[in-house]
Amino acid sequence: MKPIYLDHAASTPVHPEVAEVIMKVMTEQFGNASSVHMVGRSAKKIMSGARDAITSRLGCSPDEWIFTGGGTESDNLALFGAAYSRKGGHIITTAIEHHAVLHACEELEREGYSLTYLPVDRTGRVALKDLEAELRDDTFLISVMLANNEVGTVQPIEEIGRLAREKGILFHVDAVQALGSIPISLHSLPVDYMSFTAHKINGPQGIGGLYVRRGLPLHPRLHGGLQERGRRAGTENLAGAAGFAKAVELAIEGQAGRHEEALALRRRLLETLNQGIGPDAYRINGNAMHGLPHITNISFPGVRTDVMLMNLDMEGIAASSGSACTSGSLEISHVLRAMNLPDDQLSSAIRFSTGLGNTTEEMEHVARKIETILNRLRTKE
Ligand SMILES: Cc1ncc(COP(=O)(O)O)c(C=O)c1O
Repeated sequence: MKPIYLDHAASTPVHPEVAEVIMKVMTEQFGNASSVHMVGRSAKKIMSGARDAITSRLGCSPDEWIFTGGGTESDNLALFGAAYSRKGGHIITTAIEHHAVLHACEELEREGYSLTYLPVDRTGRVALKDLEAELRDDTFLISVMLANNEVGTVQPIEEIGRLAREKGILFHVDAVQALGSIPISLHSLPVDYMSFTAHKINGPQGIGGLYVRRGLPLHPRLHGGLQERGRRAGTENLAGAAGFAKAVELAIEGQAGRHEEALALRRRLLETLNQGIGPDAYRINGNAMHGLPHITNISFPGVRTDVMLMNLDMEGIAASSGSACTSGSLEISHVLRAMNLPDDQLSSAIRFSTGLGNTTEEMEHVARKIETILNRLRTKE
């Protein structure tokens, strides 16, 4: 059997139609979109076509979109961009954000801004009352992700956004994992900044975007040319932008179908696990009601995450943990820790994330291999 890739939350295979668009741009267009001659104008047309295609599907205006180098850059641009437009003040975020947000916030804290990291419940969800309790007179920015990349939990961003609007506080949302899974219509959401990336939706790596509601402050991170209306200097990534636009088109058009497919894949995985090892041999980490369909985070208490991942890898199955491996020891994920899970659940969590190309047969195979691995490890004890 060919390797089974169940790490689509980390990065996804480029869709063949996206690759085709990228190849065409790469081989036929090489101009600098800032050049005034026809080659430059042709490049500029590619950029504005991509911008129009993305913003019309996300429900915002073309001038509210900034192409970036990916989700990390979008998050940093939003946070530093909003913070540097004023002096000092209080920012609220959550303990389960991606490091692109968390580490940026820690840096802002070192620079003198005041930070609050909201707790989450056992399913990874933020409570509005906790946010309300932390609001201060000098709170100027709230940053909460739309859906978590490790456990898939979806946050109540409309309620949070409404509260932020009421109080006149800027609201940033990291929608990197949610794009293509949750319908997004920017002008009908109470959101001021929203981060995206192409490589989680079968687009190319190294290109992303940031929505900035018209008229809002945004101090640039990169200084140079006047690209992206002076908000992100640097020659544009033509092929990346065109590929991103195609990926957004496919992701949004195919959203409903993919949702059903993802649920069917998860169902088959869990059904086969139930038949093999039984429902008491594992725990699902996340929120059953408010979750992304393609991310299933499962703990197998008694089997360390790194041991399970290595055994899965030997069976040709690529899954992941949310944890970072530093010098051979596995750090417990900050997300699972914030969820206050029992120790044996923390140390044995595996993230399975499905996507383009996965089949129910593969899921059955994976569940059977997990059973084999668990039996093998047990006989070794
Ligand atoms: C929620 C979230 N935010 C931000 C990022 C960073 O995006 P990129 O890899 O495009 O820099 C990721 C990627 O894993 C993510 O899952």
